[in-house]
Amino acid sequence: MIETFKKDVDQGLKASTKTLPSKYFYNKKGDALFVEIMKLPEYYLTRCELDIFENKTQELIDGLDIQPETYFELIELGAGDGTKTKKLLASLANQNYTFDYLPIDISANALDLLEKDLCKELPKVSVQTQQGDYFEVLASLKKSKKPKVVLFLGSNIGNMTDDLAAEFIYNLGANLQAGDKLLLGVDLIKANDIVLPAYNDSKEITAKFNLNLLDRINHELGGNFNQEQFKHQPEYNESEGIAKSFIVSTTHQTVEIKALGKSYHFTEGEKIHTEISRKYNDDLLQKIIQNTDFSLETKILDSKGYFADYILKRN
Ligand code: AVI
Repeated sequence: MIETFKKDVDQGLKASTKTLPSKYFYNKKGDALFVEIMKLPEYYLTRCELDIFENKTQELIDGLDIQPETYFELIELGAGDGTKTKKLLASLANQNYTFDYLPIDISANALDLLEKDLCKELPKVSVQTQQGDYFEVLASLKKSKKPKVVLFLGSNIGNMTDDLAAEFIYNLGANLQAGDKLLLGVDLIKANDIVLPAYNDSKEITAKFNLNLLDRINHELGGNFNQEQFKHQPEYNESEGIAKSFIVSTTHQTVEIKALGKSYHFTEGEKIHTEISRKYNDDLLQKIIQNTDFSLETKILDSKGYFADYILKRN
């Protein structure tokens, strides 16, 4: 892990257009900051998807097109805190659907917390936590040939480029069988004045989340980034539909990273691109899945029409 981190940081910072991968946001501090982000008034994504899970639960269930007596595995990629999924689980359990809930996560701790919470709140639901890499777990589950519904929520797919998203969905298909379903939560393309504040909140929590990357390099790789000399800069262009986060050097400076035995130069105003948050529409999603084994079946919107949960069927 540390070797990959070193390689990614070196490659990203020595490039002519500097980049750092957003996956490194998520250490202990980053996870806590993301929880704060999800509560921010400007960050509408989580509330919009919760609105769907709370108020359109029956549409979600009907879209899955499964009979209550047909056993299926409900697999979630990323455990999260279960707030949204609990609405769906409760409704399925009340209607006597026959299923097991299998949240997959790399963090044993996140799975433990979720399992305890579900055991208390939804004792009727059978939970089988799966610790590990998404695709390794899916490959092991494939052997059972049981019908599957995969949840990938929160517009997490949006942090991938379109090419990577297509590859990811293709690989999901390779681990499923005909008739299985994918419930994909995505943020929709909309105006600048709604999207940009979600990545530029007034409490500056998103700025801390982004700049935490520099702290992480300092702590784990012996860097000497001075956070005071960098600032968070989000950008969004509605015609492109991609929110981008940058870290900008506010002065001409040189930063040393001991574990890499190297120094990196920054000019005043030079940017490090740290994240993309892709927003979607039907055409874009259609294009992304065109070379996969999935087809779009159902689209369920929140009451504002900001966010969509799409149901895709494995052909
Ligand atoms: C996890 N992911 C979908 C979030 C997003 O909206 O792209 C991460 C995030 N970055 C800044 N704020 C939230």
